[in-house]
Amino acid sequence: MGVRLGRVAWACPAVLLLLLQLAGASHVVYETSLLETEAAAATVPASIFELSTGYHFRPQKNWINDPNAPLYYKGWYHLFFQYNPKGAVWGNIVWAHSVSRDLINWVALETALAPSIDADKYGCWSGSATIMPDGTPVIMYTGVSRPDVNYEVQNVAFPKNSSDPLLREWVKPAHNPVIVPEGGINATQFRDPTTAWYADGHWRILVGALSGASRGVAYVYRSRDFRRWTRVRKPLHSAPTGMWECPDFYPVTVDGKESGVDTSVVSSSRVKHVLKNSLDLRRYDYYTVGTYDRLKERYVPDNPAGDKHHLRYDYGNFYASKTFYDPSKRRRILWGWANESDTAVDDVAKGWAGIQAIPRKVWLDPSGRQLMQWPVEEVEALRGKKPVSLKDRVVKRGEHVEVTGLQTAQADVEVSFEVPSLEGAEALDPALANDAQKLCGVKGADVEGGVGPFGLWVLASSKLEERTAVFFRVFKAAGNVNSTKPLVLMCSDPTKASLNKNLYHPTFAGFVDIDMAKGKISLRSLIDRSVVESFGAGGRTCILSRVYPSLAIGRNAHLHVFNNGKADIKVSRLTAWEMKKPALMNGA
Ligand SMILES: *[C@@H]1O[C@H](CO)[C@@H](O)[C@H](O)[C@H]1NC(C)=O
Ligand SMILES: *[C@@H]1O[C@H](CO)[C@@H](O)[C@H](O)[C@H]1NC(C)=O
Ligand SMILES: *[C@@H]1O[C@H](CO)[C@@H](O)[C@H](O)[C@H]1NC(C)=O
Ligand SMILES: *[C@@H]1O[C@H](CO)[C@@H](O)[C@H](O)[C@H]1NC(C)=O
Repeated sequence: MGVRLGRVAWACPAVLLLLLQLAGASHVVYETSLLETEAAAATVPASIFELSTGYHFRPQKNWINDPNAPLYYKGWYHLFFQYNPKGAVWGNIVWAHSVSRDLINWVALETALAPSIDADKYGCWSGSATIMPDGTPVIMYTGVSRPDVNYEVQNVAFPKNSSDPLLREWVKPAHNPVIVPEGGINATQFRDPTTAWYADGHWRILVGALSGASRGVAYVYRSRDFRRWTRVRKPLHSAPTGMWECPDFYPVTVDGKESGVDTSVVSSSRVKHVLKNSLDLRRYDYYTVGTYDRLKERYVPDNPAGDKHHLRYDYGNFYASKTFYDPSKRRRILWGWANESDTAVDDVAKGWAGIQAIPRKVWLDPSGRQLMQWPVEEVEALRGKKPVSLKDRVVKRGEHVEVTGLQTAQADVEVSFEVPSLEGAEALDPALANDAQKLCGVKGADVEGGVGPFGLWVLASSKLEERTAVFFRVFKAAGNVNSTKPLVLMCSDPTKASLNKNLYHPTFAGFVDIDMAKGKISLRSLIDRSVVESFGAGGRTCILSRVYPSLAIGRNAHLHVFNNGKADIKVSRLTAWEMKKPALMNGA
């Protein structure tokens, strides 16, 4: 057992406030694991401990997965998440709970929800929070009430004391479950209620489901009192993608601004809607932008092919995401889970598995075609005071330029590239025009191109045996698509990330919807030891990779700009900051 702060101390928010202001309060320790891991630790390289993330959200120990019910209440950000209090692999899931003033420093509180009633006896799975008109939050979550078939029902929980800004205790009313899988719904595939929205005297939520063998479905349930819920016969939307987990449905403004709005803003002239689903089979999140008709309770994506050619928040390791509206800064914030890509043995040895991506602000691109995402501004408070810069540096064919003068195992890098000419851009194989990931697999960072590949080598060892490439590659407008614009691919190529060849290091890629005629494109990478979280073209395309170098660790991690294209490119500006650890990260 570790040291724990007594409950008496936790009972006073002023103490917590003080804690959040104190740097290095390392004695704040949360529920310690029961699992002892020395045996496993003996068999894994010591370097894996150097790979523990510094500023991405995670508890001190154990397994985490989906972010749940993020919300803002009385000056505090709350994040709940799926958590195994007993080990670094999935199991024994409860809702862990952490709070923050700034989305960066976090304090772990007591478990918020654990199996305790018939309606959640075998599991408290994912769910969402809704802020009621009187300002208090309600959680709706999936409970597993029968173990034999994972029978899934939807439950509610209320704060025991809504005067407590930390919302430490939650009460499950006796009328749970409030929704059961009736009317032909497959009870083992029926979960993850959304935040509710309110209009015309009714609350609505979505529940993710599977219809038949392969249709992903988002069912609408309506209620006047948040207690008796009735299913709308036809789902809000569905597609032949397999089970839809963790649906998320929210409005985004069409005014070209970056501000967000509350879920209940449904007036159709001001907003478009976003429907996101997590694909259980393929393990990624995709979304469409479209129109919500609240009278018919239907949603129609603007792009008829949107359920086939998937736009993703992130083309890497990013799943079960969820947004919430932050009224304090009028923005919508996205949380997403990034799992490990090492082995379960490594996870047990290091004692933890899973992080949350840096929370991202999301808004609709002025084109209306897609979302934009950017790390919340608060993360910039972790930047060191002495950034290193490059300016107007031409990088020639085959050249790479090291960025020196700072440690880059934990860093934030922003770079703007100028591409003087698109003349030499290579032609695109039409067979790969719709498959960025495959294209990147064929045209990796070391395959010379016309314009690109150019970008960053991050977490590179001194002799470059190890390096993770994050880059762009520009193709000529392809004959089989109507666009006359060059096609831009953004790619994360970790195939050389580690000398340890037993790891899962797939290439990840997405296309970037940007007009390269202006000859400019930007990249930002948040590097955090075993995380490379990158934002292309101001947040049009994002890729989070988990990588596990064996040499490029700590002070031995280097950063370079590279160009493996025939055409010169120019770094008009690069700025790199060392990133500090937050003073408080759940005791980790
Ligand atoms: C409710 O929370 C407030 C604020 O933390 C506290 O002052 C009050 O004593 C709490 N009430 C109960 C019944 O615990
Ligand atoms: C429910 O879904 C599970 C898992 O996909 C499947 O094995 C089962 O056959 C389905 N049950 C029915 C009644 O369709
Ligand atoms: C997590 O990691 C494994 C690789 O170890 C991957 O295959 C899996 O799909 C990942 N993602 C999720 C959401 O589970
Ligand atoms: C090209 O545009 C035409 C006319 O708008 C359309 O019918 C066709 O489907 C488009 N082709 C592709 C590959 O998008």
